[in-house]
Amino acid sequence: MANLWGGRFTEATDSSAYRFNQSIFFDKRMYAEDIEGSIAHATMLGAQGIISEADRDSIVAGLKKIREDIDAGVLEISDEYEDIHSFVESVLTERIGDAGKRLHTGRSRNDQVALDMKLYTRNRIRHTDGLIKELQASILKIMEDNLDTYMPGFTHMQKAQPVTLAHHMGAYFEMFIRDRQRLSDIEKRMGTCPLGAGALAGTTYDLDRSMTASALGFESGPTRNSMDSVSDRDYLIEFLSALSIIMMHLSRACEEIITWNSNEYRFVDIDDRYSTGSSIMPQKKNPDIAELTRGKTGRVYGALMSLLTTMKGIPLAYNKDMQEDKEMAFDAMDTAEDCLREFTGMMKTMKFNADVMEDSAKKGFTNATDAADYLVKKGVPFRDAHSVVGRLVLKCVAEDRALDDLSIEEFKKECDVFDKDIYDAISMKTCVDSRLTKGAPGRERMSQEIAYYKEYLSGGEK
Ligand code: ARG
Repeated sequence: MANLWGGRFTEATDSSAYRFNQSIFFDKRMYAEDIEGSIAHATMLGAQGIISEADRDSIVAGLKKIREDIDAGVLEISDEYEDIHSFVESVLTERIGDAGKRLHTGRSRNDQVALDMKLYTRNRIRHTDGLIKELQASILKIMEDNLDTYMPGFTHMQKAQPVTLAHHMGAYFEMFIRDRQRLSDIEKRMGTCPLGAGALAGTTYDLDRSMTASALGFESGPTRNSMDSVSDRDYLIEFLSALSIIMMHLSRACEEIITWNSNEYRFVDIDDRYSTGSSIMPQKKNPDIAELTRGKTGRVYGALMSLLTTMKGIPLAYNKDMQEDKEMAFDAMDTAEDCLREFTGMMKTMKFNADVMEDSAKKGFTNATDAADYLVKKGVPFRDAHSVVGRLVLKCVAEDRALDDLSIEEFKKECDVFDKDIYDAISMKTCVDSRLTKGAPGRERMSQEIAYYKEYLSGGEK
């Protein structure tokens, strides 16, 4: 076993306690960030004259080679080490000799792991943002293709008023705009660098913390309080919270898609590539990708609850409890990314059955309000118009017809104000396209919003 701290011990750690304490199994995925941080630290130590330039050069070259070798699969991260920090430092010292032993000057694993985790999380935030942007692009494509695809809008799961598929999809586009804003807010708030905080109380070496902060891309410079630096995981809690909200949005969309894909609705057909079959029922084509995404939402919420709970009782500054920040957070990051990727694939290949949607909107009397408004515009008091249309709806329900299917005679029988222009007045096109308030589904209005979304995706605006 290779420890960084054998000196004051007379006995080796109990082997199962050693195993219990180890984090290499899961923190090895941060090897690139660990090395990046060490390169910045060593470069700064050299610039400050704390280590010699020769030592600095051999440390930096040695670290780069280790990263290359791990990337290339030549060097395997061995599970015998306590953590990734011990592994990198030990291999470095094996390879370059005594200079390697100077790398940890003025540093503790506490500020080291705080840095690694921040760098790693920042990379994952950026990657997640990219995946959401791709999803938005696929949603926008659906919107552009479906400005005139009429469908029922629902409240209480009851057909309410006609909207378009473009409008319905626009609601999700908006949710994902907010999700991306949240990610960029978190990135701004986590823009300070903990490296140089030491174990908890800084160090007596003349470190240039601004130099390492800027080398590592921390726009707001070094952190201001060393105790906070090593014990802050707020940004990770925020990220898990943002991921939970992203998952909640995906899950709502999945719930709708599962319903729309059902035999009863048939609004959409999920592509074969994103469906699975049954081992017993030959006719089945199941929406497993959507169901799994909905299901995995709980798992991401779990990670958030777990970290909140882990952090709530920890006194300042670093305590080993904080090692528990990793496994579930990594799992949540992987899960959310997987879901975003698969969901986007499913959306890109899904077929929308425009006829079925329009038919459903008509059958659901989503144009009943517009029929009453038609009479009102011809002078009938609204209450009377409401009751006339109500009776026509009752007749249609009994005969399983839509208002649009009634003959002009049938309309006139209930109220002779009806004329042939009623058909145009209650057509889905008229009902939708006259809804032009900001945020409404009317074609002209939606086209403006689509132009905005296009600009948003191309301009990098968040
Ligand atoms: N594996 C530890 C973690 O993830 C690294 C920091 C260890 N620090 C210490 N003082 N034991 O938190």
